[in-house]
Amino acid sequence: MLPLILSADYRAVKVNVIVLICIVIAVNAPLSSQASPTTPTADVQSDVLVISPQPFENSTEPELLDNPRDEDESVSTDHPVKYTGAQLWRISYDDQVRKNAVADLQHKFNVAMWNLNGTSVDMFLKKPVIADARKLLENAKVPFDVVIDDLQHAIDTENPPPEVIEQLQNRKGHRMTWSAYHRLSDIHGYLEYLANTYPEICSVQSIGNSIEGRPLLVLRISNGNAKNKAVWIDGGIHAREWISPATVTYIIDQLVEYREDQPKYVQDIDWYILPVANPDGYEYTHLVDRLWRKNRRPSVNGRCHGVDLNRNFGYHWGEQGASRQPCAETFAGMSAFSEPESLAQKNFFERSGADFQAFLSFHSYGQYILYPWGYDRFVPPDHKELDRLGREAAVLMKKSGGASYSVGPSGSLLYPASGGSDDWGKGTLGIKYCYTIELRDSGRTGFILPANQIISTSKEAQIFAYKVAETITHG
Ligand code: ARG
Ligand code: ZN
Repeated sequence: MLPLILSADYRAVKVNVIVLICIVIAVNAPLSSQASPTTPTADVQSDVLVISPQPFENSTEPELLDNPRDEDESVSTDHPVKYTGAQLWRISYDDQVRKNAVADLQHKFNVAMWNLNGTSVDMFLKKPVIADARKLLENAKVPFDVVIDDLQHAIDTENPPPEVIEQLQNRKGHRMTWSAYHRLSDIHGYLEYLANTYPEICSVQSIGNSIEGRPLLVLRISNGNAKNKAVWIDGGIHAREWISPATVTYIIDQLVEYREDQPKYVQDIDWYILPVANPDGYEYTHLVDRLWRKNRRPSVNGRCHGVDLNRNFGYHWGEQGASRQPCAETFAGMSAFSEPESLAQKNFFERSGADFQAFLSFHSYGQYILYPWGYDRFVPPDHKELDRLGREAAVLMKKSGGASYSVGPSGSLLYPASGGSDDWGKGTLGIKYCYTIELRDSGRTGFILPANQIISTSKEAQIFAYKVAETITHG
């Protein structure tokens, strides 16, 4: 899920006209090649475009309107960022008065948006602005709920106490528990353990190094059949979405440690799994700032760090929903694949001879199964098949006792955001089934999902991955 800036709402009337024109053009667009957009079929929420950050080219926005997030360079491992008294508010967002009030809030108090759907937005407010923000919404008569009343308390209690974690560990030759969120060394240690313990089916390779020099480890799980189709899974491209690496490693555990229990069509897939696509950011969220999203590229001006890796892939790079401001949460980088983490994925796919039929990228939060395109409100020619698989999976996930997931093309269901890895998988690599899965929850805890939900979340994600495997095997 991404943060958005609402400042552009000040030009709401003007931009709405542009939106209408764009939709008319889109509807009349020819359906020539895969890269050429086809008619959007999902609900077009024209308001969402209004709040997207400006595209790179021809942007007339002043620099700091582009979704900035100030970074205090004095924070360090010794002084982690504290969010005492910071709150998450869910604000009604279904008419223009309310949208303007939210825009006002963001403009005046630099409030971050955590999530957005047709009826409400989740806004994250630091303690010093809360009283004034409350007044603003009350004066504008905009209803809202305080969803998290002290973010630091949520952070302090999302993992079980260290003694409990310690008890669960060291029983199985590795340190993973799926009852707690783990540091990178535990996750990487687990991959090495699997490769050592199950050398007939598991191997680990580093596909490159992060900007701070951490390895990007991919686990391959395969029975070696030459005819196997391949599935790519990545997690943790956004650092603070801790449930993503936790879920992806759980799926790995099922595929390897419980191999005989898995259906044949699952055993006959070559799985390539990158559990932590942004290892520097992940460690930074453990040591310094729990809410960090990007990688840790130092910026040229020295004031802000990080590129949003899910805006750095080279298909329609730098268009809507991506920022050119280094301080922005959605900074797309200096060019497509400017970052070693995204470039490593590109190089891996270019080298690999595997027959990739699916590309699954796990994020949080919101409970969505999203398919391309993300760069705009268009869908690819085979969108009905992507939609059908998504819906069938969502039904199975729900039936198993899991959460409810909404299914749709990400540019329309959420908001346009260009440079995502899913779009690149489909548009450039030509992989048929590309999805971004926004895991739990739907907003009660946001990015700070308590560790006691790891297993239930992972089980529904596993059902999704298996449905993908079944579909590419049997149709
Ligand atoms: N929350 C994800 C993000 O903002 C959604 C990505 C969906 N895919 C896309 N290409 N926009 O990165
Ligand atoms: Zn994300």
